Amino acid sequence: MYKSINLSLFILLLPFLAISQNSNDYNKKIDNLLSQMTIEQKIGQLALRGTSSRVKGGLSEEFKQMIREGEAGAILNVMKAEQMAELQKIALEESEHGIPLIFARDVIHGFKTIFPIPLGLAASWDSSTAYDCARVSSIEASSIGIRWTFAPMLDISRDSRWGRIAESPGEDPLLASVLAKAYIDGFQNEFKDNTSLLACAKHFMGYGAAEGGRDYNTVYMNEALMRNIYLPPFKAAIEAGALTVMSSFNEYNGVPASASTFLLKEVLRDDLAFDGFVVSDWNSLTETIPHGYARDERHAAELAFKAGLDMEMTSRAYENHLKTLLENGTIQMADLDIMVANILRTKLRMGLFDAPIPKDNSATLYYKNAHLEKAKEAAIKSMVLLKNKNDILPLNSSKKIALIGPLADAPHDQLGTWTFDGEKEHTITPAHYFQEKTDQISFAPGLTFSRDRSTHGYADALNKAKASDLIIFIGGEEAILSGEAHSRANIALPGKQEELLKELKSTGKPIVLVIMAGRPISLTNIESYADAILMAWHPGTMGGPALYDVLTGIREPEGRLPVTWPKSAGQSPLYYNQKNTGRPADSTSFVQMYDIPLGAWQSSLGNNSHYLDDGFTPHYPFGYGLNYSSFIYSELDLSTNKISQSDSLVVSIKLTNTGNRQSTDLVQLYIQDVVGSITRPVKELKDFQHIKLDAKTDTEVKFVIYPDQLTFYNNDGEKCLESGMFNIWIGPNSASGLKSSFELFD
Ligand code: BGC
Repeated sequence: MYKSINLSLFILLLPFLAISQNSNDYNKKIDNLLSQMTIEQKIGQLALRGTSSRVKGGLSEEFKQMIREGEAGAILNVMKAEQMAELQKIALEESEHGIPLIFARDVIHGFKTIFPIPLGLAASWDSSTAYDCARVSSIEASSIGIRWTFAPMLDISRDSRWGRIAESPGEDPLLASVLAKAYIDGFQNEFKDNTSLLACAKHFMGYGAAEGGRDYNTVYMNEALMRNIYLPPFKAAIEAGALTVMSSFNEYNGVPASASTFLLKEVLRDDLAFDGFVVSDWNSLTETIPHGYARDERHAAELAFKAGLDMEMTSRAYENHLKTLLENGTIQMADLDIMVANILRTKLRMGLFDAPIPKDNSATLYYKNAHLEKAKEAAIKSMVLLKNKNDILPLNSSKKIALIGPLADAPHDQLGTWTFDGEKEHTITPAHYFQEKTDQISFAPGLTFSRDRSTHGYADALNKAKASDLIIFIGGEEAILSGEAHSRANIALPGKQEELLKELKSTGKPIVLVIMAGRPISLTNIESYADAILMAWHPGTMGGPALYDVLTGIREPEGRLPVTWPKSAGQSPLYYNQKNTGRPADSTSFVQMYDIPLGAWQSSLGNNSHYLDDGFTPHYPFGYGLNYSSFIYSELDLSTNKISQSDSLVVSIKLTNTGNRQSTDLVQLYIQDVVGSITRPVKELKDFQHIKLDAKTDTEVKFVIYPDQLTFYNNDGEKCLESGMFNIWIGPNSASGLKSSFELFD
């Protein structure tokens, strides 16, 4: 008995013993290396070298010599397998200490097989979809020797104008945290083998909160906002084992994030216990100069170094100045050693010292059928049905269809932003796939690209529309209209798409509007033209087959909005977990601009927080999306109406599929902390479950709420759990659901 207890204890402890044994070995190896490395070699480890997109032609002798001398720790954008192999061989065999390089690339939502853009993946609300994307991306990218990706991007985004909303996990901290863990698991795969990519949680911190949605812009944020909304996905990524973090371009409360001791030391190292390494964004270290924070390059190096920025991407301030700063005593060798150790430890944990020289295994792995299938599945799971008047979808197979619109056959653009390596020759577009599947379809783009302002294609499109029973219009934005530095002040469909839709409407044929875009699009001018609206985001390589399955009803669109969909750009930033005001917006007193009587007396009374033209509600709320079936929520039940701070609460509803087909609904649980020591959001997502139900069946859906889910951070950054009343909703989106309340007591 005694023995067996000891044995089981030993078995239980085995993983921990192995970890501490590993970390002892790592420390020994690191100390040993540090004791032998020159200052230049140490500084070399802090350098991420590369080119803007890829090294063209052959490798220069100078580049190889740099590796031989140990002057780089990692390489960006060298994209030929044989070149990576050659450089790694030099690093391992010809450099003095044989320290391997890490080869990096932005592998964001696929390498060759492209998945939907990250905002689309977020619309799946599904961790296995995010995991699959990360895993497939890693397998393909590592097949030529890439071992580090600058993903996942974890910037909460509340502003559809911001171009990088396309790359974001959306507006909600819980959803973003669930996705963060899945991405890290998928990319790093616990470094089980050489298909693992080192992940990079980016951009730390507050990058998505740039003023006005203008990229790189100023961020002011208090502790509570940072810790309650923007930090959780980074925390989740680090808890899941993310070993690198990228500092952001923006300044944060007056200090550029890449030189912020508060962010990089206090928050990241002290609070989140991060023990990997921090890399700057592209030149973000030297951009502290135009920010007006560093006087010159040497000062920039000093500030970033003192803040704890370990590795410098592309600019060379560390290389040019750290040695002098060490020699004149401005910075200390012990701190340099900590940074080098952070990088070496990461290389050891990845198994890079023992990894074989990469070979080119890509031939059998790029665009593998299994990868394409996963990309198609992800696209289906990300599509959000926004409108379906008279159940026009799924399509009736006997109908003659006119397929129109600039994104219907746009193989490059349907891949979306940040797809350096996906090849449009492999994209299956809707026009291509639909025509292959049915002869009931005639195709005329009408406009050749999303910004097209010529009307040359109208006649053909209108003729085809008139000769058909129904129009599918696939419009939206080209890939280049979202992504880094591609913010828009107007988020309506660009070019003449609205005008063409109006012309098509005049044919009297029903219109199914499919949007492929990197952000929510303002639908105010065109919503009434469309009988159905489906958001397909930029769906990736397999967008055509995925869309076919969804529109014909082989599958349901399973996505739900991961961001609030505004009526107009002017409503931004707009998000569901907003604060109340002293005069909360209210539909009973709201008077729309055109309904204000002429000569009305100036008064604020009866008015509240809204826009006179666009009101206060979004076009579609966070969490929204329709199915091809219908669900009823009933019988909300709480196990108790009072819980102590150490209790939990079970809350359940009855979910009924009242429709005629099997369907999946996303059941969402929100709470509101009614009164707090600082004001609390009107709603916060606390849990969600995908529930699949056969036609005409019902089930009980249960959630457990733990006190920890009721905590928040105050303005001093302290975690609080406060007694009082909580409202609770379970429903299909953030703007509806059954409501009850409970009390938390001390
Ligand atoms: C972006 C990063 C990216 C880096 C390297 C920067 O411009 O902000 O997200 O990882 O470039 O390509």
